Amino acid sequence: MTAKIIDGKKIAEGIKEKLKFQIEGLTIKPCLAVILVGNNPASNVYVNMKEIECTKLGIILKKYCLKENLLEEKLLNLIKALNNDVHVHGILVQLPLPSHIDEFNIIEAIEPKKDVDGFHAINMGCLFIGTPKFEPCTPKAIIEMINSTNITIEGKHAVIVGRSKIVGNPVAQLLLQHNTTVTICHSKTHDLKEYTKQADILVVAVGIPHLIKEDMIKEGAIVIDVGVNRIEDITYKKGYYLCGDVDFEKVINKASYISPVPGGVGPVTIAMLMSNTLKAYHLIENGKAI
Ligand code: GUN
Repeated sequence: MTAKIIDGKKIAEGIKEKLKFQIEGLTIKPCLAVILVGNNPASNVYVNMKEIECTKLGIILKKYCLKENLLEEKLLNLIKALNNDVHVHGILVQLPLPSHIDEFNIIEAIEPKKDVDGFHAINMGCLFIGTPKFEPCTPKAIIEMINSTNITIEGKHAVIVGRSKIVGNPVAQLLLQHNTTVTICHSKTHDLKEYTKQADILVVAVGIPHLIKEDMIKEGAIVIDVGVNRIEDITYKKGYYLCGDVDFEKVINKASYISPVPGGVGPVTIAMLMSNTLKAYHLIENGKAI
């Protein structure tokens, strides 16, 4: 069997086309504030991509690039100002933050109505009790990609490798709410292969290049690769290339559907950020509570 490719770029284009049409009809344009602290090369790339996509859709992106040694208090002050700014609808603080800044304090300072990442405890809580307000963008993208296969997932076994706050944990909740049976594996799981081999749907988000090999996959599984690993290689124009957590070239022969890296989860995640920004816009402009 050769798997069909879940084309993230194409899925994202479809979502963005609809959003663009909705945004064109607005007199006041949605505004997303993005805060970048320090000089993490991957974060720089992600923020630039968000900026490009926002511009295409008619979303104003206000970018705040701050120095690595910024005091936590200064960042909290900026967030307070953005919370109170009626022209700003969404606030995103790019992660990871430098180690001297407490990530939890920063996320909790964001007004939940403007929390387009869905990372605030209120939004996470709403997600976990089954009434999501802002679903985190990557988990939301993963569900969209699985749905694009048109395979019924109710009753199927979803195995997630990775238990991060921003991907593994929330996607497990979303999959549960879609009536799949969910197993979460992580770095301390013994005999990972025993679990991954049982997966009708396998979501991998650990950041280990090519961790998942062909013999770890059930024949016909849907495989979603969330890993974006930079491999330094001077023979490439940029000095590196990107690969996922799944050994794509081999696993493609066993899965029924597989998402590539790049061109898989990444573009859909950005489309979901645009969608959450429009949602924040409506909450703010219409004065609705979360
Ligand atoms: N860093 C990696 N992924 C994300 C994300 O989804 N949101 C933010 N804010 N930072 C990230």
